[in-house]
Amino acid sequence: MSNVLTRREFLATATVGAAATAIPLSVVAQNSGNGTAAASAAPAAPAKTRAKKIIDKGPIGEVAEPAPYIQPSGERPLVIGSLDDLETQAAEVLSPGAFAFIAAGADNQVTLKANRKELDRIRLLPQYLVNKPAPDLTTTLLGEKLSMPIITAPMGAHGLAHESAEIGSAQGTGEAGTLYTMSTAANKTIEDVAAATTGPKWFQIYLHDDRGPSRELLKRAEDAGFTAIVFTIDAFAPGASDETVRRGFSFPPNLPLVNSETPFFKRSLGWDDLEFIQSATKLPIILKGVVSPKMATQAVERGVAAIQVSNHGGRGLDGVPAAITLLPPIVEAVNGRVPVIMDSGIRRGTDVLKALALGADAIALGRPILYGLSLGGAPGVKSVYDRIAGELERAMLIAGVASVDEINSDFLYEAATS
Ligand code: FNR
Repeated sequence: MSNVLTRREFLATATVGAAATAIPLSVVAQNSGNGTAAASAAPAAPAKTRAKKIIDKGPIGEVAEPAPYIQPSGERPLVIGSLDDLETQAAEVLSPGAFAFIAAGADNQVTLKANRKELDRIRLLPQYLVNKPAPDLTTTLLGEKLSMPIITAPMGAHGLAHESAEIGSAQGTGEAGTLYTMSTAANKTIEDVAAATTGPKWFQIYLHDDRGPSRELLKRAEDAGFTAIVFTIDAFAPGASDETVRRGFSFPPNLPLVNSETPFFKRSLGWDDLEFIQSATKLPIILKGVVSPKMATQAVERGVAAIQVSNHGGRGLDGVPAAITLLPPIVEAVNGRVPVIMDSGIRRGTDVLKALALGADAIALGRPILYGLSLGGAPGVKSVYDRIAGELERAMLIAGVASVDEINSDFLYEAATS
């Protein structure tokens, strides 16, 4: 294989689930000169030359990340005023390209902004004089005991955020007593991530065109002790924001995706792909990226164990409604048959309360985890959980709700007053 991408290869790579992989793993290995996936040395070709080769063959901008990419390091607990503060602080420790890759949404960021706007529009209604004991945040999700109804969403390339990469985020999540979802597009191996967390863990799969590597990943995840598979169905071009184009961001060669034999993920998905995963693993499957009641109903009828309502944090098709807007009709269609998880835009304890009041069983956090990781490694991630759990506990206390199971639409102003 040539170490220069053809235009077709580039486009295929740039639009896969791990859109960060502008340079495929195999090419990275060749450039690194040692042929291993764990290339830590600078690639043989100077960064400028390599970037130029890619420019010649594809629509990328002129400034690629410097190689090797310098990862933030350092481990410390964080004092967090709000999870939003972390975004500003993370921008100071990450390269502009890496920050854009993590933070930005697609196109005009209509969906990214709507995720927040629609959560903010919802009004809560507390219940007073109800003699409730102190709130208990614990819950159970697909048999896993969690310290709170908040879990880590699958995200690729944690190595951009911190040198500990997925090891740090998995450790921090485990220390917070909740569930870690590992992405296929990780910089650390399935086995190392599994060993790093003391908490429950799920593995998120991006399928390859060939069944073989996918089957292998599913088997490795099962052997390593992951207890469920998250099948993401909406990731054809995430991370492709205007800002990453302006910055000419491409994935640093010293941060390969170490679990995939190829960075070319499957771009055309159908229900037969769900059937394939069901045949290749005994583990329960969560379908992530569900955006309509019809899709949810079909998924439940086809035996998925849970639904994850998500618009990929506004990184996919711009113009899709806010995830919190999509949630209620999907909850209605699912009708309690399987748990419903929701992600995209959650930043506050009150956001969690709102999502649960609208019928979610748990929510997943995306970017704040990467910001906590970049600022403080594993303790930074734990601090993110401590902050949002503290906010949720306070919100439940004031609202007059003692347990996660008790949260329902009675605590929503519109529902209670209509
Ligand atoms: C993601 N997301 C994602 N989802 C997935 O299923 N597999 C993946 O590899 C990734 N990769 C990824 C990378 C980065 C940098 C981000 C920010 C997100 C989407 C993620 O699981 C989740 O849906 C959103 O991040 C949730 O939105 P918030 O919390 O970031 O607003």
